[in-house]
Amino acid sequence: MTSELQIGKRATAPELTSPLRLSSGITLPNRLAKAAMEEQLAGRRSHPDSRLVTLYRTWDAGGVGMMLTGHVMVDRSAVAQPADIVLDATSDLAPFREWAAAARTSSLWMQINHPGRVVRRDTGSRALAPSAVPVDVGPLSKFFPPPTPMTASDIRDTVERFAVTAELADRAGFAGVEIHAAHGYLLAQFLSPLVNKRTDQWGGSLHNRARLLLDVVAAVRARVSPNFGVAVKLNSADFQRGGFDLQDARHVIEWLSDSVDFVELSGGSIESLATAGHPADERTLEREAYFLKLAGELVTDASVPLMLTGGIRRARVAEAVLARGFSLVGVATALAQQPDAPLGWLAGEDGEVPAPRSSLRSKSLRAAAIQASITSQLHDLGRGRSRPTLAPVAALIVDQYRRSRATRRYRQEHSTGQQ
Ligand SMILES: Cc1cc2nc3c(=O)[nH]c(=O)nc-3n(C[C@H](O)[C@H](O)[C@H](O)COP(=O)(O)O)c2cc1C
Repeated sequence: MTSELQIGKRATAPELTSPLRLSSGITLPNRLAKAAMEEQLAGRRSHPDSRLVTLYRTWDAGGVGMMLTGHVMVDRSAVAQPADIVLDATSDLAPFREWAAAARTSSLWMQINHPGRVVRRDTGSRALAPSAVPVDVGPLSKFFPPPTPMTASDIRDTVERFAVTAELADRAGFAGVEIHAAHGYLLAQFLSPLVNKRTDQWGGSLHNRARLLLDVVAAVRARVSPNFGVAVKLNSADFQRGGFDLQDARHVIEWLSDSVDFVELSGGSIESLATAGHPADERTLEREAYFLKLAGELVTDASVPLMLTGGIRRARVAEAVLARGFSLVGVATALAQQPDAPLGWLAGEDGEVPAPRSSLRSKSLRAAAIQASITSQLHDLGRGRSRPTLAPVAALIVDQYRRSRATRRYRQEHSTGQQ
């Protein structure tokens, strides 16, 4: 174990406690970042409610240097989940200002996203996509409506929406935005040759498939203050045969490098399930930081700071990620379970947070149940409680109930024009 953790270690590897200065001028106090987790805590009109403030104060006090919010939707007619936050030109900025003020010592960035075709049929959301390729998740595919290929005007409108949301995040007091181009949402759909079958300037070559992402980044940069951070979350690979792969990621990182503060690397999509990693039944570095081997190949060429997220649950693994050449370490699940784990890690403890488990046999059901139990933990933290997480199966049942209530409210607000 120890020798494996030393592999590729650089003499100059930064410590977890080292500050990091980004190109926008923001200095992060340390190398640990709370990665994005969709909180599903929207109140009326998809605004943040007070539970989000409590949740982010808790993480801020737990020692991380940066917090990335769960994805915030740029278009209220297309939401990944009915209780997702939306920030658009019609939003009231006051609750967003309260949310931004939850960060006292860490840097709080808003992740902004458009789900594209990954919208639930029951929300009545518009399923837009580069091409008419439906979501394929086996028997669960029926929950996703058939997507409509985007027109040039839909594409221009979407670029503008990302820019508006970023500008509003800046005005509300967030330190930066992270544009979500991973995990199979709209920007990743354009990047993927399996979903993007277009023959115009947004399809075909990798450069054409990356055009929407690059235009979004440029439009966001043009609209925000010079000292406001801009980052991108990108897959190191989609883990689908013929999909976006490591070589593609290498080029896209190069094209982004002059205009972003950092690129966060993750992997997988709703169709490949790799986002949730592999069960860590063996304690090896590659099983723990499960994208490290693949994404590590991108570090040598990159001229922009890279962040690695996925499976990191203890200090020694986080240090090994820095030793491999990454500038930042992203942690999601472990910080839902134990929001103050970074305090121990920064003080030199290994402090492993055990991975959540479920004995369900079906892989997709198991992933859904674990995801639901993590969401329920976020909700508990938002209420100021820190009791043990609901058992995954119980969390799945609660999640279904909560989701159907949120769907009713979303549809009602949408149909009465309150959106
Ligand atoms: C409940 C939950 C919600 C998530 N929501 C988002 C999200 O909104 N945006 C995003 O980029 N990733 C999201 N993720 C993925 C995480 O950011 C991260 O990439 C993934 O969980 C692997 O990291 P981990 O092993 O530290 O959890 C979510 C993960 C979980 C568990």
